[in-house]
Amino acid sequence: MISFSAPAKIILSGEHSVVYGKPAFAAGIDKRLRVSIFGRKGFLPSQWSIVEKVVLEYLSDNKIKFTKKSFSVRIESDIPKGRGLGSSAAFAVASTGAYIKFLSGRSFDKQTINNLAYKIEKEFHGRPSGIDNSTSCFGGLIFFRKEFEFLKVISRLNFKIPDSISNRLYLIDTGKPKESTKDMVEFVGRRFNKNPLKTRIILSEIERSTKQMVVSVVKEDQRLFAESVKKNHLLLDKLGVVSDWLKRRLSFLEKYGAYKITGAGSRKGPAGFVLFIDLSGEGDSILKKTGFKYFRISFDNRGLVEL
Ligand code: PMV
Repeated sequence: MISFSAPAKIILSGEHSVVYGKPAFAAGIDKRLRVSIFGRKGFLPSQWSIVEKVVLEYLSDNKIKFTKKSFSVRIESDIPKGRGLGSSAAFAVASTGAYIKFLSGRSFDKQTINNLAYKIEKEFHGRPSGIDNSTSCFGGLIFFRKEFEFLKVISRLNFKIPDSISNRLYLIDTGKPKESTKDMVEFVGRRFNKNPLKTRIILSEIERSTKQMVVSVVKEDQRLFAESVKKNHLLLDKLGVVSDWLKRRLSFLEKYGAYKITGAGSRKGPAGFVLFIDLSGEGDSILKKTGFKYFRISFDNRGLVEL
């Protein structure tokens, strides 16, 4: 049996603006998806044909020897689906790692696996920026910028979120958004086409708040981090990806800290996971009032691993 596991991710800052060439700041978190391949005929997940196509194409194009044999696949995951935590990216990354090893008997570097996982993600979602698969593959803190379709600058930062910030961070599960990530990216696209100047200004301000967040982490400055979360929230709201439903339920949190959507957001109703930094020190009692499930974030530093 060959088994690989890859983590979920959260976008700390830069969702949507990353599609327009602005940087995004993301982190691996310790929820994982495992893909195991067994050497006998049996179950294959519904989207396996895409993994198969991309991996076989790579091996053939690069004249790498491999043997095709019967197999079955098992997926185990504690990453909620469709909530912006990157479950499909973790599937793409772990499946690529496991299948390429199963076929060729060799291990490949993460860069290669990430490139293939990005191709798979494109088949799933149309035009993803690539931040989801990159964060899942490399783990840790990622500063990402897509310069061109053929050039993505993926920097794995050599520092961590300090305890003074991470001990105050929560993810609130507001429920599965009605719109898909693709719908939301298209919505922002229409907005951009209708009003390019105004939208460009919002995107540039998001870039500033993303950089401010990185600085807050380096300086271990909890207040600056909260300020950048708040700014980011206001700007995402200006872009139109924060629903009134969400604001009605969560705006009271502003008295205690700052919150923002993480991921594509929504126009109506639930917005997937929301990031909250609690400055009051009363996190649990405040979050109970939201009526939503929530949990503390624990970060992942490993990315893709073979088990
Ligand atoms: O909701 P998620 O985790 O799929 O995040 C989407 C992030 C976007 O910037 C909106 C799209 C992308 O491909 O980067």
